[in-house]
Amino acid sequence: MYVYTFLSIICTLPLALCYGNGKVTGSCGNMIPSHPASSQTSSAPYTVSVNQSSFQGGDTITVTLQGQSTAFRGFLLEAREVGGGQPVGTFSVTDSQAQLLACSGIINSAVSHTSPANKNSVKVLWKAPSSGVSKDIAFSATFVQDKVTFWVQVKSETVKFTGVPSTTTPSLPISFISSAECGNTKVCVSQPSNCNPASSSSCSFISVTAFSTNSTFLVEISGPASGYVATGFSNDQKMGNDDIYICVINGSGVQVQHAHSTGKVMPQILSQGQVSNVQSSVNNGVISCSFTSQNAITTQSRSAASNFTYYLLFASGPASGGSIKFHDNTFSSNQKVDLTNPQFLATSEPSSVKAHGALMLISWMTTGSLGMLIARYLKAATKQHRCCNKDFWFLAHLTLMVTSVIASGIAFIVIFSFAQDWSGGAHPVLGCIVMILALIQPIGAAFRCAPGNKWRFVFNWGHALNALVIKVLAVAAIFTGLGLIDNTDSRWLQKVMGGFVAWEVLCFLLYELNLRNCLKEKTERTSDSNTTEVVLLGIFFLGNIAFLVALLCGIGMS
Ligand code: HEM
Ligand SMILES: *[C@@H]1O[C@H](CO)[C@@H](O)[C@H](O)[C@H]1NC(C)=O
Ligand SMILES: *[C@@H]1O[C@H](CO)[C@@H](O)[C@H](O)[C@H]1NC(C)=O
Ligand SMILES: *[C@@H]1O[C@H](CO)[C@@H](O)[C@H](O)[C@H]1NC(C)=O
Ligand SMILES: *[C@@H]1O[C@H](CO)[C@@H](O)[C@H](O)[C@H]1NC(C)=O
Repeated sequence: MYVYTFLSIICTLPLALCYGNGKVTGSCGNMIPSHPASSQTSSAPYTVSVNQSSFQGGDTITVTLQGQSTAFRGFLLEAREVGGGQPVGTFSVTDSQAQLLACSGIINSAVSHTSPANKNSVKVLWKAPSSGVSKDIAFSATFVQDKVTFWVQVKSETVKFTGVPSTTTPSLPISFISSAECGNTKVCVSQPSNCNPASSSSCSFISVTAFSTNSTFLVEISGPASGYVATGFSNDQKMGNDDIYICVINGSGVQVQHAHSTGKVMPQILSQGQVSNVQSSVNNGVISCSFTSQNAITTQSRSAASNFTYYLLFASGPASGGSIKFHDNTFSSNQKVDLTNPQFLATSEPSSVKAHGALMLISWMTTGSLGMLIARYLKAATKQHRCCNKDFWFLAHLTLMVTSVIASGIAFIVIFSFAQDWSGGAHPVLGCIVMILALIQPIGAAFRCAPGNKWRFVFNWGHALNALVIKVLAVAAIFTGLGLIDNTDSRWLQKVMGGFVAWEVLCFLLYELNLRNCLKEKTERTSDSNTTEVVLLGIFFLGNIAFLVALLCGIGMS
């Protein structure tokens, strides 16, 4: 303050003396020079320009003060948050025409002239604080042309604040294993398809490079897991009778174990045998290991390493004390491969799983829906049409429903003979309930009372309600089932299934409305309303087939 007053007094001296040295900290706040005059109000013949229009914490910006037509003799430059009064950030100078000042107690927060000599351009650098700033800033400069002619707080364009840069350095690869040579020198299988363990932490990956000349093979396994990642050489896509290698965390390191599975139980750990060159890493929850083995691959039906053709299995899961626990992720290659023939394989659902899915989908979304719809809405419309002494609707309903039950029975047997267990969460439970309820339908129908009987309503209601329950549970089972086989990132199978269900609901609602209408009118049915029902049936069927085909394609590709 004393300095300020003192300087104010000596300011009556010629400009050369007054602040000629640029030590103008007294003007830090309002940036008004203590000259015996007031600021010019016309637009300044000077500009403050920046080399970038946005910044992040820690960025450096080049700031240029420029006189277009006239030179300036003195200046004071600060950076301020828009609307703020305090300087932010720090400057650095290389130009001898400029010097650094401490404004508001912040060292290097302002820049001023070093002499009253004429200047046309001054360049300085401003560094944004790496933290603490969260607003846009603008540079503000006061230009002094002569003692009585000066412009105060000439602003630069606003420089937008775009955030604090993330501190994660462009990180090292997640795994030292990469998919780069897949199909070129090594056989690879991954989930999701074609992923690279070096760059994706959700990539489960196996590669094998086999040399038939010296019966040596190089294995790489990588994947997100808490305890272990493992690979198996198998004659089928199932666990059991496989030659297995496990990379398991034990203490602070990763250890390679050689094992043989006798079934869907804890594999039997063997001696490691001729395993060498073990390399491993645990990074971001991803376990990776590679090693060379000269052990013969032994599966039950073949004991020599003369033929390197196997399915590749993958499993990963938790472990404790170097001993593996039940896996939480498994997959197998979509085909048996000759390990000496490099290729990048897709994973796939075993064909029995696909057949199961396809049959269930057809039964409950197409033939079953159609049969239910005909029984409920086309009874009246087709009343006149009879065949073999039976109503047409009845024959159609019977055929479609029996087909559905038989098809789902086959699908049921297929999956249980393959899986032989109850894994898969809600899906198998829902599936079993649907199967049991579905069997009740034809049995109940076979023993129903005659149409005129006073107990007939029991069958009518029971049959219809059971049908509704079956339909709802079947849809739920299909949703969960598609979830099990859909390993695409977009999860499109379930989305298409959602569309399918919406389509069916819409068609049923239209029928229901139509039915209510007809009942209300209580008029004799005309051939007109029959036409509506038949046309609706056609539309329903076409939409149904479109969704069905899309889903069957999805199941086929899984
Ligand atoms: C604690 C040890 C293990 C136990 C108790 C065990 C048990 C089982 C069971 C019960 C299944 C059928 C359930 C399902 O489909 O999810 C299964 C499947 C599978 N397991 Fe294991 N397993 C073990 C370790 C391993 C290891 C080390 C591998 C190494 C490759 C492996 C590979 C597979 C594969 C690929 C499947 C899916 C194909 C199939 O269902 O057969 N398992 N395991
Ligand atoms: C602006 O200048 C600074 C300092 O030379 C430099 O670090 C920065 O990259 C420049 N910005 C642009 C957008 O050129
Ligand atoms: C096996 O042969 C391949 C090339 O044929 C060679 O790169 C590898 O080092 C050999 N391995 C051993 C253990 O001899
Ligand atoms: C290995 O065995 C399979 C049958 O298991 C056969 O199809 C394949 O041609 C054989 N490959 C070689 C290289 O002998
Ligand atoms: C885990 O490591 C310890 C110490 O190295 C060892 O004694 C133990 O046998 C290992 N566990 C297994 C399952 O190999």
